[in-house]
Amino acid sequence: MIEYRYAPPALEDWLDLRAEASWSAIVPRSRAQAAMDGSWAWISAYDGDDCVGMARVVGDGAYMFYLQDVLVRGDRRGKGIGGELVRLAVALVSDRGSGSWQLGLMAAGGKEPFYERFGFKRRPDDNHGAGMILRGS
Ligand SMILES: CC(C)(COP(=O)(O)OP(=O)(O)OC[C@H]1O[C@@H](n2cnc3c(N)ncnc32)[C@H](O)[C@@H]1OP(=O)(O)O)[C@@H](O)C(=O)NCCC(=O)NCCS
Repeated sequence: MIEYRYAPPALEDWLDLRAEASWSAIVPRSRAQAAMDGSWAWISAYDGDDCVGMARVVGDGAYMFYLQDVLVRGDRRGKGIGGELVRLAVALVSDRGSGSWQLGLMAAGGKEPFYERFGFKRRPDDNHGAGMILRGS
């Protein structure tokens, strides 16, 4: 049975999950730790002591939030873990208090249908432009 904890994964587990998804490395490690520590919320999925997935939310804690690093270990995909991580992240943001809020994300290529199940809408649409990003190194 998978246990979901509202806590960050170990740094090595996070970096392993990212590497397995062929996502770029975060160096130096101190910067990775600061990124994890600076997140608004975390959900880590465990099978016993094994971290098999994670998601984190960054944001201002009041109105604007972003879902980041939704990751499930390759051999554990397709069993509902990723969906549960997203569902719990949405619940954390929506249950936080009164008032409107927004939870954004940048979908990996082809993953849009995975998020549409939870009500996320694609951009651009009639009223909104495309999401945009500026990368630095
Ligand atoms: C995207 C990702 C997090 C999904 O995790 P997951 O655990 O496989 O997600 P789920 O099992 O909840 O759903 C995945 C699919 O399995 C299906 N599924 C869910 N429960 C299932 C079950 N019990 N049995 C069989 N299939 C199931 C879902 O219908 C879903 O199908 P869909 O892709 O056609 O919508 C995972 O593929 C991953 O880590 N990918 C690499 C990193 C990445 O791209 N992250 C997203 C960044 S935006």
